[in-house]
Amino acid sequence: MPSATAQHTSAHWHPFQNMSATQDPLVLTHADGVWMTSADGRRFLDATAGLWFCHAGYGRREIADAAHAQLLRMHAYSTFGDYSNEPADQLAERLSALAPGGPWKTLFTSGGSDSVETAVKYARRYWQLLGRPERTVVLSRVDSYHGMHTAATEISGIPANRTGYGPLLPETRLVARDDAQALEAAIDEIGAERVAAFVCEPIQGAGGVHFPAPGYLSAVADICRRHGILFVVDEVTTGMGRAGAWFASEKFDIEPDILLCAKGLTSGYLALGAVLINERATAPFWDADNVFRHGYTYSGHAAAAATALANLDYLTDHHLLAAADRIAVRLPELLSDLAGTGMVQSVRTGPAAMAGIQLNAWLVKKDPSLVPRAVRAIRDAGVLTRPFASGGLQISPALCISDAELEQMAAGLRAGLNNLC
Ligand SMILES: Cc1ncc(COP(=O)(O)O)c(C=O)c1O
Repeated sequence: MPSATAQHTSAHWHPFQNMSATQDPLVLTHADGVWMTSADGRRFLDATAGLWFCHAGYGRREIADAAHAQLLRMHAYSTFGDYSNEPADQLAERLSALAPGGPWKTLFTSGGSDSVETAVKYARRYWQLLGRPERTVVLSRVDSYHGMHTAATEISGIPANRTGYGPLLPETRLVARDDAQALEAAIDEIGAERVAAFVCEPIQGAGGVHFPAPGYLSAVADICRRHGILFVVDEVTTGMGRAGAWFASEKFDIEPDILLCAKGLTSGYLALGAVLINERATAPFWDADNVFRHGYTYSGHAAAAATALANLDYLTDHHLLAAADRIAVRLPELLSDLAGTGMVQSVRTGPAAMAGIQLNAWLVKKDPSLVPRAVRAIRDAGVLTRPFASGGLQISPALCISDAELEQMAAGLRAGLNNLC
């Protein structure tokens, strides 16, 4: 039943939104640096870099010019079979040099969910080719978010996103978030000979921003190595500088078999994802006569790849990886005192330019509308953020944010939350 209030009449159906209760969407028209302008002329500071993607900041002429030039030169062509293009070739080389471990081969996709789907299919195909078809089980973690495709939805550990579809993919299991022994126990119970891959975000993002416990990531990397399980690290939010390194894997000193990225790869100027696969895992294809019958229309899209190259140049030239480290230090200094105010239960920060502001669980349980109301109150105070299903707020500003803007962001958050009380 539609709600009794006046309904928004646009034909645009927004993701993750109750459209029957949507009356007055915020229409954004311009953006520059970390600042957004709405159709009615208001300005907002973007505390989330869109959906974790805009590392370089908005309105970057260098990136737009590179996209424009490639769009005119040859915007795209198939990379199926033996077709290729220069930007995609160059980007694959560049990623192989930037990612820890390696060398890497890259399969290009159109975004994060594509990359996760590709990795899950790849893991199963890999084991079939090695004559181990029983290795099908994919393990992942509670509170993880891996996107919205079928496999990605199934292996993500956010209950609100997984329920209501019936079983989407057989042979998956969630394990506790920060407990290497729980992974080992699940492998023992299932049988290592049946496990294809373990998929994990180094820092959980949309599940609420959870940093790994000290030693956890090396411990699970070691468990995967001992059992021959493919270690798939989903760096869709953490890759491309957010953790002060091109990949958080480098920061945490782990070497995945498969590394996923998207979002910050182009800072969102065009859609692109990538699946990097190391030598051990590519061997059944690259050293033998086998074809991975998988790919997307826009795999290796020339303009998207040219955009990514210009974005990587921008991040390098403007020292935005070092900036991520600076932001990571400032976030707890600016936000920690929100915790314990009654409204905020905790503020999760760590070695990356991201934070999770967890609202008081008791209050959220009593009134779930508190979370969207908090987002709205903070917006009214001039700052754009977004809610997590777990009752928190996302903080992940563009890496170009200045110290003064970080302070403005914190002041807006504080003002919005105060107005809620
Ligand atoms: C860790 C992670 N993996 C995968 C995805 C899915 O990416 P996309 O929305 O580009 O499909 C996301 C999106 O937020 C993500 O955070």
